[in-house]
Amino acid sequence: MDWYSQENYCKDLPSSPVPDIGIVLVSGAAGYIGGRLVPELIERGYRVRVMVRKYSEEQTERWPGAEIVIADALNVEQLRWVLKDVSVAYYLIHSMLIGKKNDAESDFQAVTNFRMVAEERKLKRIIYLGALGETNPRLSDHPESRNSAAKILKQGKVPATILQTSIIIGSGSASFEILESIVRNSPVFFSPYWTRTPCQPISVRDVIKYLVGVLETKETTGNSYDIGGDEVFTYREMMKIMVKLLRKRRIFLPSPVYSIRFYSYITSLISPVPAKIIAILMESVKNDAVVREAAIRELIDFKTIQFKVTLLRALSREEHDKISTRWSDSYPPAHDLSMKFSELSETPRFLSTYSTLTDKDAASIFKTICGIGGKQGWFHTNWLWRIRGSIDRVLMGVGMSRGRRSADSLRINDVIDFWRVEDLIRNRRLLLRAEMRLPGKAWLEFKIEKEGKQNRLSVIAYFQPDGFAGKLYWYSFLPFHYFIFKDILKQLPK
Ligand SMILES: NC(=O)c1ccc[n+]([C@@H]2O[C@H](COP(=O)([O-])OP(=O)(O)OC[C@H]3O[C@@H](n4cnc5c(N)ncnc54)[C@H](OP(=O)(O)O)[C@@H]3O)[C@@H](O)[C@H]2O)c1
Repeated sequence: MDWYSQENYCKDLPSSPVPDIGIVLVSGAAGYIGGRLVPELIERGYRVRVMVRKYSEEQTERWPGAEIVIADALNVEQLRWVLKDVSVAYYLIHSMLIGKKNDAESDFQAVTNFRMVAEERKLKRIIYLGALGETNPRLSDHPESRNSAAKILKQGKVPATILQTSIIIGSGSASFEILESIVRNSPVFFSPYWTRTPCQPISVRDVIKYLVGVLETKETTGNSYDIGGDEVFTYREMMKIMVKLLRKRRIFLPSPVYSIRFYSYITSLISPVPAKIIAILMESVKNDAVVREAAIRELIDFKTIQFKVTLLRALSREEHDKISTRWSDSYPPAHDLSMKFSELSETPRFLSTYSTLTDKDAASIFKTICGIGGKQGWFHTNWLWRIRGSIDRVLMGVGMSRGRRSADSLRINDVIDFWRVEDLIRNRRLLLRAEMRLPGKAWLEFKIEKEGKQNRLSVIAYFQPDGFAGKLYWYSFLPFHYFIFKDILKQLPK
């Protein structure tokens, strides 16, 4: 199974590794940026400590040699333990997915705690990646929240290196997937005034290079830098480039409707990214996001990747099923740190089980199970899943269109349409947790057990209802389970 695939981004970085720097902590390691930074640091010989909120065995395989620690930045005691003996810490914590209001509040608390404990533990440096944006009263919520994290870190006693970037483009980045799906799925673009805002996109590879580069360049200690690619575009121009690359014919029309809420909702219906995340990203579109000074180029000089090339590479990684991290890797709204099935005090009372005996070996059954969802779909009853997904999208849920990070590899925390992988035991078990809008909590388990010379494959739906609405939901969907699960069982062992 392809647990991890990432090219070495830092091959042509002008700086040299300084592995004797001591322990380097990467917080937010399970996120889009952190997940790509850790392998680069390991590759360059650093002693890496990885901070995650939830541990899964697969992380040991994904980050060989790294020390994996579990901590929440909102918990000071946990931070004290995690930052012990750390020399340099990357601060890549970001709670955008929880929701706009909570976002700013928990980001503030998390960064305040981090700074305080970093001072106690006498760290040499903190490296932070934030968003680029004009510091004026019109500033949108997103960059403002990032800037305030930058401000808090800058005011601390531990010298902070702040990198500020505009939109990050790469396979699996939310901005890239939004851009791609708009162009693929909409024949006409209504472009309000803010699509003419200038922006300086950067490739995710270059972001990782800068993050590693500043660690290896002492002079960057305590300083802030704007980072971006070499080209400045408006959002409309970026869409036009994507139109050309995908060889589509699209019509652009000016629009008098400016509402971000409206556009994010409409966009969410044709893209894998949920409306809440699109809204937060679109808020930043209102402000110029261009590099004001390029001082970092004098210290860390390498050739950044052209926007068009970045798009082509991301499209190719998608096509070849080689996305190493994706925006969906982090926990989504309302399900942040959802309770695990194993943490329930008792098995939910509401469950339905369907099973079949098969001569197929466990490995081939497991392989088929692990390929379920995404582009391959859910067999004959795919249309039923799609209807459920569409209802969810209309209700501003995650819907079915998130798909999968990879068609043939699966790791814990990956999303599969409106599910998330909660447990994965090779050739024995796949446990999915529901992330669609539901009056309760739901899980779907695939279990393979030896029975004589054959294997028994069971599909079990578990539901923990929230009050009367939950019970009503369960009983109204019960008849559909029969068709859906029987169909899955019929198809799976083939
Ligand atoms: N990605 C972009 O396009 C982009 C663009 C500009 C700037 N940036 C900046 O880059 C940084 C990293 O972004 P990203 O895209 O990698 O974010 P991300 O994918 O959303 O990941 C954020 C990480 O923060 C962790 N986290 C959130 N709250 C936490 C807490 N209380 N304690 C411990 N960990 C917590 C999350 O953990 P869980 O996995 O447990 O949820 C997740 O791993 C952010 O500062 C962001 O503003 C990103």
